[in-house]
Amino acid sequence: MTIERRPLLALRDVTQSYQLPRTSLFGPRSSFTVLDGIDFDVCAGEAVGLVGESGAGKTTLTRILTGMERPQRGQVEFDGQDLWAAGAAERTRFRRSVQMVLQNPRSSLDPRMRIGTALLEPLRSLRIEGNHTRRIHEVLDQVGLDRSALGRFPHEFSGGQLQRIAIARALMPNPRVLVADEPVSALDVSIQAQVLNLLKDLVQDLQLGLVFIAHDLSVVAYTTSRVSVIAAGRIVEVGRPVELFTRPAAPATRNLVDAVLTVESGLAGTAL
Ligand SMILES: Nc1ncnc2c1ncn2[C@@H]1O[C@H](COP(=O)(O)OP(=O)(O)OP(=O)(O)O)[C@@H](O)[C@H]1O
Ligand SMILES: [Mg+2]
Repeated sequence: MTIERRPLLALRDVTQSYQLPRTSLFGPRSSFTVLDGIDFDVCAGEAVGLVGESGAGKTTLTRILTGMERPQRGQVEFDGQDLWAAGAAERTRFRRSVQMVLQNPRSSLDPRMRIGTALLEPLRSLRIEGNHTRRIHEVLDQVGLDRSALGRFPHEFSGGQLQRIAIARALMPNPRVLVADEPVSALDVSIQAQVLNLLKDLVQDLQLGLVFIAHDLSVVAYTTSRVSVIAAGRIVEVGRPVELFTRPAAPATRNLVDAVLTVESGLAGTAL
């Protein structure tokens, strides 16, 4: 018997291009294809990775996956429903259910806002009712932060603690999918593993879907069970991290493996 995979969030044949500025006054406008026929998905309780070189299209894919940008062709499906064909109630559910963790918590958290206020903010903007204090305490427990953090400001925390706070903020609306774009590349190597382990635990404990985006294959390999390699806007290979390391098929995958093997320190050794 085969168990049916039911993706929670999926891109189906997504294509996106940007218009380039005219090079002459009456000349035609040319366009640049950033994503070309992308299929990508994540299930509940699963961590998947997306790796690729700079400019490959990772951030554009993230923007489409989180509903910030509408694709010119193809579908974004959440829980089996087409996001851009859905009604207002479904869209609201999507905005609560798919949350992002950004690369640099120092720039994603407002320096003048106490942590408690920053954690409440997503509940306010998404108009989520309920016992907010209880929700904050629950989420602090999930990410391993003390309640004393609530009255403090971002500058009073280390980079690793701030990324924990950013993750807490993303968890506040009780999402089902987290999309993390380079969540540890701004952190010291010594604390990267702590944040990666936290994300892994959350996937298990909360049955979250995690989409982990990075340019470093070793970081993605450590965190996920399935990785898609993107190059020039196309998915060129999908596989288990260990297979990609030992038998990379696509040239882009080989480049990413070589990049890891030339790095002496960091997580490379741990992941391998
Ligand atoms: N609004 C836009 N208009 C025109 N071109 C764009 C726009 N946004 C992105 N691009 C181009 O699309 C390509 C992919 O960009 P994207 O930011 O998705 O790459 P990335 O994989 O996230 O790169 P990095 O690892 O550097 O963050 C790049 O060549 C970029 O210059
Ligand atoms: Mg990017």
